[in-house]
Amino acid sequence: MTTGGQAGKVAAGRGGERLAALERQAVELATTPGWIDRPQPIFWSEPRSVFQPAHWSYLEIRGALEEAAGLVDLSLAERRILALRNPFAANNFATTRTLSCSYQYMLPGEMASTHRHASHALRVMLDARGTYSIVDGVRMPMETGDIVLTPGGCWHGHGHDGDEPACWVDGLDIPLTHLLEPMFFEAYPQRHMAASSWADVSPFRFRADDIAGRLDAAVAQPDGLSGPRIDLTSAQMPSMGIAVERLGAGIGTRRQRSTASRCVVVMAGEGESKVGECTFPWRRGDTFAVPGWVWYEHLARSDAQLFELSDEPVMKMCGYWRHEAA
Ligand SMILES: [Fe+2]
Repeated sequence: MTTGGQAGKVAAGRGGERLAALERQAVELATTPGWIDRPQPIFWSEPRSVFQPAHWSYLEIRGALEEAAGLVDLSLAERRILALRNPFAANNFATTRTLSCSYQYMLPGEMASTHRHASHALRVMLDARGTYSIVDGVRMPMETGDIVLTPGGCWHGHGHDGDEPACWVDGLDIPLTHLLEPMFFEAYPQRHMAASSWADVSPFRFRADDIAGRLDAAVAQPDGLSGPRIDLTSAQMPSMGIAVERLGAGIGTRRQRSTASRCVVVMAGEGESKVGECTFPWRRGDTFAVPGWVWYEHLARSDAQLFELSDEPVMKMCGYWRHEAA
């Protein structure tokens, strides 16, 4: 460890020598003096995320997963997923600082094993008929257009009784779990938990038609920050801000930024979003990442529905929330 000693800057002559000795002692004490210049500063004037604006094409990733389905046996793998890795060098799987998204792919007749983990999870169902999740023994359908929540600590596994391959986006707060370090993970001893009951209606399942009905009743924000928008945030998953927004063809949002980071999944429609210096054309099924404090705005080219997962509740709980619009 080095302190990058600044003794001469603070004190001259004999005082400087004593200060240099003190800085060496500080190293021995496993401390760093507050008066030194650090290679990495502790404070800076405004947020500067190492995460980048990024976009993933559903078409491309689904194609890769279709190929993986012939190569990766789901009876041996935990999940058949491709994680949306934000493209900077030191990153492994995280999509934003606190959130990780993946595309998951299942063939008819397959089952994804039961496990549980500290991280909260949700599914945005893109193309799925006959798929289901068993959460703590309760089997609930996961169909196209549904959003299904799996609070941290719940046993969960998935199955597919339909006729066509299924694909969806998983969103989790794993990077936040890693940051705070309360990760627990456990595989179910018998691999697959059997369903003890079935439920079409659950507080953890938002059906596609329920979402559409609630959006019909919602109104656009008069300040132009969003189109009609519903908040699906759950008290059982308090780290995750969950929302669905509708933008009519030709409708855009105001340019804005906040301290929260966001993952946006296009549930319907086509359009484009400006995120920082990037312009991402998007279509149904695509996902893009908006790091914290990066300007963004959306424009729909056709009637669009955007799902948004953010860490906004974490920012608000910590007192770190800031939002501004241009
Ligand atoms: Fe899981």
